[in-house]
Amino acid sequence: MSRLGNEGEDIIGRWSEEKLDLLAKYLKAYSVIMNEQKKSWLRAYYYVDAFAGSIRPRAKEDEQRYIDGSPLRALQTEPKFDAYWFIDISPRRIERVQELRQEFPDCAIEIRQGNSNKVLCDEIVPRIPYTSKTRAFVFLDPYGLQIDWETVKELANTKTCDIFINFSLMGVTRLLPRDQPPESEIIEQLSKVMGSTNWIDQIYQPPVQLSLFADQEPALSRETIRSEWLASLYAQQLRSLFPHVSKPVLMKNSTNSVLYALCLASHNPTAAKITNDIFARYERLRQLGS
Ligand SMILES: C[S@@+](CC[C@H](N)C(=O)[O-])C[C@H]1O[C@@H](n2cnc3c(N)ncnc32)[C@H](O)[C@@H]1O
Repeated sequence: MSRLGNEGEDIIGRWSEEKLDLLAKYLKAYSVIMNEQKKSWLRAYYYVDAFAGSIRPRAKEDEQRYIDGSPLRALQTEPKFDAYWFIDISPRRIERVQELRQEFPDCAIEIRQGNSNKVLCDEIVPRIPYTSKTRAFVFLDPYGLQIDWETVKELANTKTCDIFINFSLMGVTRLLPRDQPPESEIIEQLSKVMGSTNWIDQIYQPPVQLSLFADQEPALSRETIRSEWLASLYAQQLRSLFPHVSKPVLMKNSTNSVLYALCLASHNPTAAKITNDIFARYERLRQLGS
């Protein structure tokens, strides 16, 4: 959960700002390409923000500084999208989203308050079938494990959506106990967000040193889960639904702990290539800065 400022706005760390910068870079490239396609076959292209947030969060390291959140990054992108759909479960945040209508009167903005799994599947997916000759860019930016694998599957099945997902590695790791394999409810929870859980058995092993009592079942425990491994596992899962998936980039906080993996999944090879270029540049700059 994020910390809230005295006006109820989110307070976000440096890494969240970096995530937003990566999003803005990709949106620019996407919109230029899609706008070009409108000269031939494409009828319209949309931006969908399934976890819209508090619009102008404040920077953690300087709370006087406001940052443009993901809806603003999209609305500022040129050329413009044909429509913007913003979803958030929080009524307080949706009030802020409503204000964007006055700020951007020329943009077609649709807003829904609710669980994005439901809104995406019931309202958005039916509006962008393949026959509609439309495309949508869907940003999935939950705090934790709020995006169901079924929703990702439905988005992929449209063949009209690209998804840009900030997947919570921390959310997964926290669910997995160190000293014993997880209970069935946890396995179910992970299956709901990742599709498969075959990988869980691989990470629980008996201790290397054999027990003195040969007839005793050795207790299974897990090593530290490598973030790169978990991120590539999720990317691999995405590859079962989308033919082109970028290399995930790991988002780290100020103490270098990995929190999320940001990844693009698309039906178009150019989309994954552009994202890989943007992520590679970001990784290079991060290495220079550290
Ligand atoms: C990380 S914040 C989004 C930040 C925003 N994308 C940005 O970059 O400016 C996550 C948001 O998801 C919302 N949320 C949490 N669970 C949700 C759900 N099931 N459906 C829709 N929104 C949800 C929260 O209210 C919060 O505003």
